[in-house]
Amino acid sequence: MNAPQMQGLNLNAPSHVKNAKLLAWVADMAALSKPDRIQWCDGSDAEYQRMCAELVSSGTFIKLNETKRPNSFLARSDPSDVARVEDRTFICSVKKENAGPTNNWVDPKDMRALLQTGQADGTSALFDGCMKGRTLYVVPFSMGPLGSPIAHIGVELTDSAYAAVNMKLMTRMGKPVLDVLGVDGDFVPCMHTVGAPLQPGQVDVKWPSNKTKYIVHYPETREIWSYGSGYGGNALLGKKCFALRIASIMGQAAAGGPKGSPGWLAEHMLILGVTSPAGKKYHVAAAFPSACGKTNFAMLVPPAGFEGWKVTTIGDDIAWIKPGVDGRLYAINPEAGYFGVAPGTNTLTNPNCMASLDRDVIYTNVALTDDGDVWWESMSAPPAHAIDWQGKDWTPEIAKQTGAKAAHPNSRFTVAATNNPAIDSAWDDPAGVPIDAFIFGGRRTTTVPLVTEARNWDEGVYMAATMGSETTAAIVGQEGVVRRDPFAMLPFTGYNMSDYFQHWLEMGEKLATTGATLPRFFTTNWFRKGEDGQFVWPGYGENMRVLKWMIDRIEGKAQGNEHAFGVSPTFEEINWQGLNFTPEQFATVSDIDRDAWLKELELHAALFEQLSYNLPQALRDTKARIEQRLAAA
Ligand code: OXD
Ligand code: MN
Repeated sequence: MNAPQMQGLNLNAPSHVKNAKLLAWVADMAALSKPDRIQWCDGSDAEYQRMCAELVSSGTFIKLNETKRPNSFLARSDPSDVARVEDRTFICSVKKENAGPTNNWVDPKDMRALLQTGQADGTSALFDGCMKGRTLYVVPFSMGPLGSPIAHIGVELTDSAYAAVNMKLMTRMGKPVLDVLGVDGDFVPCMHTVGAPLQPGQVDVKWPSNKTKYIVHYPETREIWSYGSGYGGNALLGKKCFALRIASIMGQAAAGGPKGSPGWLAEHMLILGVTSPAGKKYHVAAAFPSACGKTNFAMLVPPAGFEGWKVTTIGDDIAWIKPGVDGRLYAINPEAGYFGVAPGTNTLTNPNCMASLDRDVIYTNVALTDDGDVWWESMSAPPAHAIDWQGKDWTPEIAKQTGAKAAHPNSRFTVAATNNPAIDSAWDDPAGVPIDAFIFGGRRTTTVPLVTEARNWDEGVYMAATMGSETTAAIVGQEGVVRRDPFAMLPFTGYNMSDYFQHWLEMGEKLATTGATLPRFFTTNWFRKGEDGQFVWPGYGENMRVLKWMIDRIEGKAQGNEHAFGVSPTFEEINWQGLNFTPEQFATVSDIDRDAWLKELELHAALFEQLSYNLPQALRDTKARIEQRLAAA
């Protein structure tokens, strides 16, 4: 079945591609989308360099100054295509209740008619001819170390060379993946188009996209179809679409009910290793909503007072977590690169990240300096002049007068994980790393204390399920609004959120029966503000102080202070060496305001109302217990 001809178009499959399902699917998708040519990506460095050079020639990439920022490029997106589009993201399960009230749902029959097969009134499908005049890139990728029992394979078909080169940095991509896939291996099909076919002779724009956007997931058949956007999680389909939405479904489906296999977890979590001066190592998986500092926490540099401590990065955004034979939970980072938010990153907030960005980076929507380098807000002292993310002149004066940002607030860098000087030696270990603690952290200017440990697994699931956070620029829409973001997974859970909670609860029950030590649950909030409107907690590297308290709890060395919601540190239990932080300031970030919490619990009630279908009774029971404790406090 190699290289079949489709109405004159050569499938162009290399002779080593033997997977029948893959060949047939590429042929079908090419027949539907009608590209001018097909390129199978081998994932080699030579291919990456060639494609980047082509992107420079076509104007999508600007090559940065080779001396200042070797092997690096800048792309500017269309101003209407700058972030994930949650309102255009759909979970098209056969039954609406399986998508649940937190996901957009369309009947899969209707969605397929719209995207793929054409509608009853004769309107043609959006994907019909969507790649005319373009190249279809076949991008095979592994989420997770090749061959890991926790990893899975996907294949993205895309007409965006930008997406293909980003996938090279973000995943294990190319020929070795096809070798693992073999003749009959399975993969998640990920179909992507920018939705901008070219007429013969039509000159392309630098960032093709379409005002109409659909980011669609079919849970039962585990397919992803993305139309109209070239940006981030809308287009790099291994990330949010596969590694979170589809993978969360796979992990739950692998569970065999209350008595069967526990299945596995796909989570919006960084994974880090923390090693004490005595050489004892712990692993932590931490969930924070988008643009709340996951990359910074994953690359944390311990501050003064923590000499001999080391933090190493396994992943900065996503964790796939599976029980091992010993009953402990093991995590891998399914990704192989970082797609991080640039603004706010600097040598003080994240020195390891800045060092990762010295070379070999694709920047998107940051500013271009006059000497051919990049700049973003708070990176360093502002340049006297730059070209902003929209290609316009920018000066500090213009910024003062108009508020214009040099870099878009959701501007990004894409860089291979291997560029990180703090990479963990086990980051690519197929077995994963054993998890000792989960952290859930929202962005809240009030109410939620600096750190609290749950008293048990169910209370931890409750804390994570009811987490609230103020929205950021990572999503199109209003910024700074508190929304419930259960497990930091609101936009990423591919099935009914209540069933997801149940999956977590059952996972805890099943692991408990093995007698293995279960991970502890903590919630954090780095973002409380004082009366002057300023953040009180210094954050960044100083978060090590909180991490150390967690380790003390695990080791039984910190008793903490028990309150209605769990256990928080006393002032004396935190190592303050090297930081001038007063007991009053500590009280400002730690105090529990009873009235604020009574209001907060009303919001938990509203969430439970919204999620009432299948909401686990254990969560209602935990809420009732917390309310009793609060009433007695
Ligand atoms: C991301 C996000 O890009 O969460 O990681 O939006
Ligand atoms: Mn994320």
